[in-house]
Amino acid sequence: MNIQSANELRSLFLRFFEEKGHARIPSASVIPENDPTVLFTTAGMHPLVPYLMGEKHPMGTRLTDVQKCIRTGDIDDVGDPSHLTFFEMLGNWSLGDYFKKEMIPWSWEFLTSKDWLGLDPDKLAFTVFEGDQDAPRDEEAANLWRAQGVKDDHLFYLPKKHNWWGPAGITGPCGPDTEMFIIRDQPPCGPDCSPACSCGRYLEIWNDVFMQYEKQADGTFVPLKQKNVDTGMGLERTYCVLMGAGTVYETEIFSGIIGKIEELSGRKYGQDPSPFASSPTTCVPLPSSSATTGA
Ligand code: SER
Repeated sequence: MNIQSANELRSLFLRFFEEKGHARIPSASVIPENDPTVLFTTAGMHPLVPYLMGEKHPMGTRLTDVQKCIRTGDIDDVGDPSHLTFFEMLGNWSLGDYFKKEMIPWSWEFLTSKDWLGLDPDKLAFTVFEGDQDAPRDEEAANLWRAQGVKDDHLFYLPKKHNWWGPAGITGPCGPDTEMFIIRDQPPCGPDCSPACSCGRYLEIWNDVFMQYEKQADGTFVPLKQKNVDTGMGLERTYCVLMGAGTVYETEIFSGIIGKIEELSGRKYGQDPSPFASSPTTCVPLPSSSATTGA
């Protein structure tokens, strides 16, 4: 499928999952309602937490949406080629309905079929949870990828730090995930280069979270009443890949706002030096009197 605009990508994703029996639901507000655990909606799962925990959703057990998110946990990375504070997450949801054996073949189909994104399978890499004291090694997910034709040198087992999602706050639904990466045209940074590495060779575009645990306040994980699927495909990143753009900022999603900033500032994006280039690169410490009073 030849995608020409970010809106086509939104529509394609929603249509794919509607064809698989999902109901389309609108984005929730980026200001969470009745939830003191976070300041903003940080992920697609956030507005759906009660339904992942077992409450019945009025639209059924298969949902799809495009959720607006504000995420600040990785704010130090913002401004690199792929991290944003505000972004849209294309998502699909199984609320105690299907699980891994449906979701992984669907992810493969959406990514690689010529009817959908048509990405080159040789340019894709996948990670699965390597297992620890809280949950087993996810051989089921790995074998489902292998069954699609994924070779072992494109499949990586990673620890909780990389392949576990949630809870959105301190407690709540969470689980191991499998993540999908584009392999960019840049050589490995070393013999251990993998999707866990931040050199930029691997760009994550989608994750399938297998939400089957609830994290308790004491840090333990107990099985949820139902097994859920929560996926999140980054709209800006995936569109950047489809457009062959160098960074998420260099597509039509940002060209309007960048054009306006150019007009107001009289500077050209990517050409004129940053006005901050000559500023000190390290913080100037506050005088000790104000630092201690916080003034
Ligand atoms: N799949 C989501 C994410 O990656 C969690 O809802 O943010």
